[in-house]
Amino acid sequence: MILVTGGTGLVGAHLLYHLSLENDVIKAIHRKKSDLNAVKNVFSFYSEDFEQLYAKINWVEADITDICQLEVAFENVTEVYHSAALVSFNPADYKAMRKINIEGTSNIVNFCIDYTIKKLCFVSSIATIEKSLGKKLITEENEWNIEKNNYGYAITKYGAEMEVWRASQENVDVVIVNPGVILGAGFWNNGSGAMFSKINKGMPFYSEGITGFVSVTDVVKTMMLLMKSTIKNERFILVSENISFKTVFNEIATNLNKKLPSIKVTKLLSEIAWRLDWFKAIITKKQPILTRQSAKSMHNKHHYSSEKVRKALNFQFKPIIETIEEICILFKK
Ligand SMILES: NC(=O)c1ccc[n+]([C@@H]2O[C@H](COP(=O)([O-])OP(=O)(O)OC[C@H]3O[C@@H](n4cnc5c(N)ncnc54)[C@H](OP(=O)(O)O)[C@@H]3O)[C@@H](O)[C@H]2O)c1
Repeated sequence: MILVTGGTGLVGAHLLYHLSLENDVIKAIHRKKSDLNAVKNVFSFYSEDFEQLYAKINWVEADITDICQLEVAFENVTEVYHSAALVSFNPADYKAMRKINIEGTSNIVNFCIDYTIKKLCFVSSIATIEKSLGKKLITEENEWNIEKNNYGYAITKYGAEMEVWRASQENVDVVIVNPGVILGAGFWNNGSGAMFSKINKGMPFYSEGITGFVSVTDVVKTMMLLMKSTIKNERFILVSENISFKTVFNEIATNLNKKLPSIKVTKLLSEIAWRLDWFKAIITKKQPILTRQSAKSMHNKHHYSSEKVRKALNFQFKPIIETIEEICILFKK
């Protein structure tokens, strides 16, 4: 039986939907406070029979940092998709990210070894891929350097990858995917989903930074294809296109019939903004919207190659413009 971690998040919920089309039952873990309705809501976007498909999920309460709970979750499991993580650019979350992203993945790996799991698919990130100089395309071969990537999310996702490679040394077949910014429907208040909500409310800012974007559907489809293939012990960048935040924001605004963001965020403006936001977060005791790292990455211009996965699976990614159109239709619903 398949086990999914992170099933209540953007990637996991879409993965569960696609797995439910091909399997009679799928096990998925959730935490006590997880919002299971958000998952059902995602199912309802894509199928009239969503209740029946959703009923195929066998939910087990388990935190990946809790070994006793995981032991129950791993009963009768043969394949694992590990998507659970704490995604944050707030330095205050570093300790929690080490616990969840590294220690949690280590726990998953230990159970995969103990239960002689056939294959493990781990969702990592382009944050663990070293950047190339200039306009040279970034590939899986680029060797990551902690000196240049010393922020919590990248460090802990890289640490998690190291745990997954340990599984491969212990006879568990593994595949790692490294997606760019994932665009998908249903989680409008966090991650990339918040871009749709903010632009809908008239957010006027844009930046000219460039990065890799990919649709959540392509992420989960490639994960499933990699799991079914004979490919093992490899990692794959998942990026449909390298485009600017400005292009993405303009496309979202156009599809939502909103004014195009017109104020360019300069490096100076973002340096001031993250400091003000940090100060506001201390006073209000809320998560900052902008951090030093997110302010910096807004201006980076990085181009990723997804040649490896395209060739290995003969896979065609959906263009980002089409992805945004589809997500905006669901957002308006
Ligand atoms: N979104 C992106 O743009 C993006 C890009 C590249 C890579 N990724 C990677 O893709 C994966 C999924 O991202 P996402 O966007 O789906 O994230 P998300 O929406 O924030 O979901 C995170 C998931 O992890 C679960 N989780 C967190 N801590 C846990 C713990 N201690 N025990 C068990 N479950 C826990 C959450 O459960 P609760 O519902 O209980 O909180 C939720 O299901 C992550 O590994 C992330 O690093 C994401």
